[in-house]
Amino acid sequence: MSAGPTPARGARVVDLRSDTLTAPTPAMREAMAGAPVGDDVYGEDPTLNALEERVADLLGHEAGLFFPSGSMANMVGVRLLVEPGRELLADVTSHVLRAELGGHGALGGITSRTWSDGLVDGSNPARVLDARVPLALMVPDAGPYLVSTAAVAVENTHNFGGGTVQPLDQLQALRSGTEQAGVALHLDGARLWNAHVATGVPLDVYGRLFDTVSVCLSKGLGAPVGSVLVASAERVAQARVLRKRYGGGMRQAGVLAAAGLHALENHVDRLAEDHARARRLAQACAAAAPGSVDPGAVPTNIVVLRTGTRSGTEVAAAAAERGVRVSALGPHMVRAVTHLDVDDTDVDVAGTVLGEVLAG
Ligand SMILES: Cc1ncc(COP(=O)(O)O)c(C=O)c1O
Repeated sequence: MSAGPTPARGARVVDLRSDTLTAPTPAMREAMAGAPVGDDVYGEDPTLNALEERVADLLGHEAGLFFPSGSMANMVGVRLLVEPGRELLADVTSHVLRAELGGHGALGGITSRTWSDGLVDGSNPARVLDARVPLALMVPDAGPYLVSTAAVAVENTHNFGGGTVQPLDQLQALRSGTEQAGVALHLDGARLWNAHVATGVPLDVYGRLFDTVSVCLSKGLGAPVGSVLVASAERVAQARVLRKRYGGGMRQAGVLAAAGLHALENHVDRLAEDHARARRLAQACAAAAPGSVDPGAVPTNIVVLRTGTRSGTEVAAAAAERGVRVSALGPHMVRAVTHLDVDDTDVDVAGTVLGEVLAG
């Protein structure tokens, strides 16, 4: 069901640009209003402490730390594993390298190299991990002439690939290969909840494969703010120092943590509804505009639609004029994301509009 202010159906805009757009539900707002709080820089916010413990426990790690954003959680999580002047390997379309505005280099002194297998020839647009690729790129102890690889970052689900769930056997192969080489692993798990719901793989099975894991509460789970980084207790103690240094020390942030705890209780299993709606949207688009999307290849809540010869921007603008908002993702692609504030009617309206615009 939709939450927040809802205009009359005639005027309603279906906003599928991102799952970050959700407004807190009334029940979530109530949980926030009633939360016991304290000063978190002193470590004294009981609600925040409870959230950090809960997420660490879910992901099979010793400790957790709350962050105001996924970008900051990734920046600190990676920095714990990579000293300045050493390198991080990641997919060329990864959020850590494409969408965090160079923070890992600018603030962490970290260099990076990317892999892009199957992107140019179109054989791997979803950016499904093949562990052999990063393992072949690694140079763990490069000596005095080349940059040494300190860590590899993986994104699950992979946003710019279209909500791709990374195969567990590839994650396991990556873990054993990096471990043998003494290279660390970071997981950008902004949407790990979606991977867990789509596959049934327990969260801690994913979590234990990585040295640091960031997860977001503000995407599919519908909280207004917040991410949690989990790791060993020793690393989380270091992360607390880095977070303060980056300006991320918060005070009575228990009001935000209460939203996260509420989301963990109430909004994880329902992600299956977002996944079903994403497939339904893809089916409508594929029926009206064959070739725009393969509905069988929509694993979670993100639908990437090919716009043919027209630009993504042009198609997004035409859909917006008819009350459906999507993001232009590439020169000939748009992205539609289902979320807590999108219901079946919204998806049917969006399917009709997008189908007609794409066929147009
Ligand atoms: C895969 C992924 N990682 C990290 C982030 C960063 O989250 P934030 O916007 O809270 O910084 C996002 C945001 O969309 C994301 O999609």
